[in-house]
Amino acid sequence: GCGARSQQSTSKEGGEAGGGASDEKIIIKFSHVVAENTPKGQAAEMFKQLAEEYTNGKVEIQVFPNSQLYKDEDVLAAVQQNNVQLAAPSTSVVTKLYPQWTLFDLPFIFKDEAGVQAAMESPEIGGKLFTMLEEQNLLGLAMWDNGFKQTHSNKKIVAPADFKGQKLRVMSSKVLEAQFKSVGANPTPMAFGEVYSALEQGVIDGGENTISNVYSQKMHEVQKYITMSNHGYLGYAVITNSDFWNGLPEDVRTQLQKALDETTAWVRDNSKRVNDEQLAEIKASGKTEIIELSEEERQAWVDAMTVIYSEFEGEIGKDLIDAAKALW
Ligand code: LMR
Repeated sequence: GCGARSQQSTSKEGGEAGGGASDEKIIIKFSHVVAENTPKGQAAEMFKQLAEEYTNGKVEIQVFPNSQLYKDEDVLAAVQQNNVQLAAPSTSVVTKLYPQWTLFDLPFIFKDEAGVQAAMESPEIGGKLFTMLEEQNLLGLAMWDNGFKQTHSNKKIVAPADFKGQKLRVMSSKVLEAQFKSVGANPTPMAFGEVYSALEQGVIDGGENTISNVYSQKMHEVQKYITMSNHGYLGYAVITNSDFWNGLPEDVRTQLQKALDETTAWVRDNSKRVNDEQLAEIKASGKTEIIELSEEERQAWVDAMTVIYSEFEGEIGKDLIDAAKALW
């Protein structure tokens, strides 16, 4: 790869006064696909500020939001090749390398945000999934929350039968495809950056995403309905290149980890707030109707969609699925 460390001279003609300080600046490129006013976008900026501060400028974090550098389908290879040093793709993206990660895509597998946290912190779930990454020169540094996904469309979707024939965008994940096939919809994998225009042009009818992803992309402006289904979870694995990370000077690594831990705590405490505030904005815009499901209506979704669990016991591992269910 091209290497993340670049010689950057801080001296101007005649050299540094004082001398002695290393002039080697470590550049860390951080690629992600969402907008800056999302939980992940804000976290990336916060991490940049803290990391640069704690390392006294030894490190420069260059954040590239909005798929400026890589789409999700290419970003892990880019990390492996050290073309970028940090990425925070949704767990669904990791399923291409490790199908076990589709655990996080299973509809209704987690009770609530606390359940997701418990899964991420559990050695049998989060621990196991993170350890796998190291086989492929990747290192998982943190899990960042976004939140539960809602269902958006130009058709009012309340009962499972309403899904019939709906062309719905999904992230690239077999579980997400199976989830929508289970209710008769037509799942369409597509890169995040292409979703808004596909909705606008009617290439797809709708999709599933968190409110912050819908709002920041203005999807609600081209969608008549959002059903508050909370059917699946969207969170992120913050991933670096193991060789790069292990090759950092120890003090730098310690400070970066500290910056990351503080950022992770912030995301945990604020992702729901960001989503809730943006839901209020969507409501205020009057551009789309928000549909709340009754207990019975939601249960009908659970019954229709969770039938896919058994189909994925082999790929994900029954032990992982059982460990997640045990957290309820
Ligand atoms: C999506 O593709 O819908 C999301 O994974 C985007 C993101 O990173 O939140």
